[in-house]
Amino acid sequence: MRTRVGIIGAGPAGLTLAHLLRLRGIDSVVLEARSREYVERRVRAGVLEHPTVELLREAGVAGRLDREGMPHHGLSLRFDGTDHRIALADLTGRSITVYGQQEVVKDLIAARLDAGEPIVFEVSDVRPHDAETDQPYITYVDADGAPQRLDCDVIAGCDGSHGVSHAAVPSTTHAHDYPFAWLGVLAKAPPSHSELIYTHHERGFALHSMRTPEITRLYLQVPPEERIEYWPDDRIWDELGLRLAADGFTLTTGPIMEKGITTMRSVVTEPMRYGRLFLAGDAAHIVPPTGAKGMNLAIHDVWVLAEALARYFGEGRSDLLDEYSDTCLRRVWRAQHFSWWMTSMLHQAPGADDFQRRLQLSQLRYTATSTAAATSLAENYVGLPYR
Ligand code: APR
Ligand code: PHB
Repeated sequence: MRTRVGIIGAGPAGLTLAHLLRLRGIDSVVLEARSREYVERRVRAGVLEHPTVELLREAGVAGRLDREGMPHHGLSLRFDGTDHRIALADLTGRSITVYGQQEVVKDLIAARLDAGEPIVFEVSDVRPHDAETDQPYITYVDADGAPQRLDCDVIAGCDGSHGVSHAAVPSTTHAHDYPFAWLGVLAKAPPSHSELIYTHHERGFALHSMRTPEITRLYLQVPPEERIEYWPDDRIWDELGLRLAADGFTLTTGPIMEKGITTMRSVVTEPMRYGRLFLAGDAAHIVPPTGAKGMNLAIHDVWVLAEALARYFGEGRSDLLDEYSDTCLRRVWRAQHFSWWMTSMLHQAPGADDFQRRLQLSQLRYTATSTAAATSLAENYVGLPYR
């Protein structure tokens, strides 16, 4: 088999890239380790920045997003048991949309299959080869167990942080571990509030988010080595009740449909390229979820890559490809700093003393009351413009 761009991974990065390339008349093949059902059901984050929504609209894949996505014009910082609203739209003129990552994935898979373009699911033993030459190729084993070879001009490594692409790139990795994890739950319960609530509490951070008017998404800070077996549903609701307590607030409860623990890391790979292998999304960088940036960065990367590949294949010019890594990394480091800042301001670090807690509260109060500080949070949260 031969294609122009061999894409490893059918997450938001790989699928959006395939779609943007198709719009530019560039053929690609997407190779995915999991089944279609699996990737369409995997529960991940759900905040789309304003520029992400704009891009999906321009790319013609926002029909359901516009009908079912929930636009949010503000969010709450909750500390000392009181809400302090950050008026995202008033401060920036822009807003965010709550729409689950797997809904974006479903829409992109449907668009690709409707167009008759290939996604090869359930492949194994995927390996990129000869990235340092101008004839790279990928080998893999298909769902029937047959070995295959895909020759291409360029390989896009969009296979996330545990994929094979990251490991194939001899770049420098900058990493930072955080001493906490998030326990996330999806509950069949209407949201308790119309907006997201980021809560600072002495028992640990908590987040109230949502997916639909009937489904709430909630998170609790837990130690990084925590095991989900220690968290029966009753304990989760009790802890959420304690941390989210505020005057006039009632936590809506309901059956928990899904729960899991995610550790928190920051990782940046520099450069995001090795010869003709380009990394995008989680394969190149990971951010802690407190800034809600993971999927948004992935989509920005592939927007840059699609433009660069269009110039390369259309005009034979590689200048944008040569700038790809630097262009992406400027946004990645901004998001990395914002996510680290939100994380440090809101979580209880093990062994943190009263002095550190008072600094956090002072920063929260300043952010909530100074228009300059609130605007800084807001413009990072809704997403800085692409250009
Ligand atoms: N071969 C093929 N596919 C692979 C391999 C492999 N060896 N390893 C992993 N994959 C697939 C995964 O099954 C997954 O579907 O690559 C895909 C990677 O997708 P994501 O992990 O979602 O990464 P990305 O597309 O970069 O998305 C970035 O969106 O998914 C959210 O919150 C998540 O921050 C993340 C963001
Ligand atoms: C989510 O809804 O899953 C979500 C929202 C905001 C975050 C992280 C996750 O910062």
